[in-house]
Amino acid sequence: MTKLKPVTPLSIIASNLEKALISIESKDLIDAETKELLKTTKELATRLEPYLIENATPEENILRNLAKVTLEHDWRGSDSSQMNSLEPEMLSGHVEGMFLRQIVALSNCKNILEIGLFSGYSALAMAQALPKEGRLVACEIDAHAAKFARSQFAKSDHGSKIEVIVGDASETLKTLRQDKHVFDLVFLDADKVGYKGYFEFLLENNMVKQGGIFLVDNTLLQGEPYLNEEHRSQGGEAIRLFNEYLSREPRIEQVLIPIRDGVTLARLIA
Ligand SMILES: C[S@@+](CC[C@H](N)C(=O)[O-])C[C@H]1O[C@@H](n2cnc3c(N)ncnc32)[C@H](O)[C@@H]1O
Repeated sequence: MTKLKPVTPLSIIASNLEKALISIESKDLIDAETKELLKTTKELATRLEPYLIENATPEENILRNLAKVTLEHDWRGSDSSQMNSLEPEMLSGHVEGMFLRQIVALSNCKNILEIGLFSGYSALAMAQALPKEGRLVACEIDAHAAKFARSQFAKSDHGSKIEVIVGDASETLKTLRQDKHVFDLVFLDADKVGYKGYFEFLLENNMVKQGGIFLVDNTLLQGEPYLNEEHRSQGGEAIRLFNEYLSREPRIEQVLIPIRDGVTLARLIA
């Protein structure tokens, strides 16, 4: 199976500490106490994620299999136009999927919009908590990813609740507005530079009900928004600006939760 790159602040901390420990192991100038301190810190970082997985309700077979085939798939091997930017690390996975599913169940929502489907893990995790008549509309720009996800949904009893729309989300949102769609919950997980535009469009066009929920992924973006500017990519800067915008938006109440790469849980309050 593919070895995943560290893509969250925690996994980057853990990986950096591992490298630092290997590099100081043979150096006598570092005293034993400092080495021990680093070792314990590394353990704290590396063991947290497995502990979170261990303490969540076990992943269902269908989702475990979806994750497995996503990680095994060669996302660079297709001729689809968007494929080069896709990578297995995009998959949200068990802990985040379970978190999303809990929010869907707790909020009794029936209409979900997902922007950024990829191989379908988060969509299926949320669809599992929807009632029978519930619907999830998923926007995906990459036709190959959409086909992959649809083939996975076909294996699940909950797959029929999901409608996949292929195209640029900014265009799909206009069609959904025309069709007068109003959502109870929105999961935003596509191109980071597009976040603010999608969010504003949904607010300005009343496409989310009063009290509706927003879940926004990667709002910690590998720590880039709070690191110095020289460590910030275009995506990191976009997330920093998005987080700033959200904290100043009076219609929204929100909290940034450090699950995985950061998930913001927000509510439309006015
Ligand atoms: C991080 S992945 C989504 C992961 C998925 N939600 C999950 O949890 O497994 C981001 C996805 O957004 C898609 N995407 C990027 N830009 C987009 C756009 N402008 N419109 C629609 N989808 C887009 C990418 O092709 C990719 O599949």
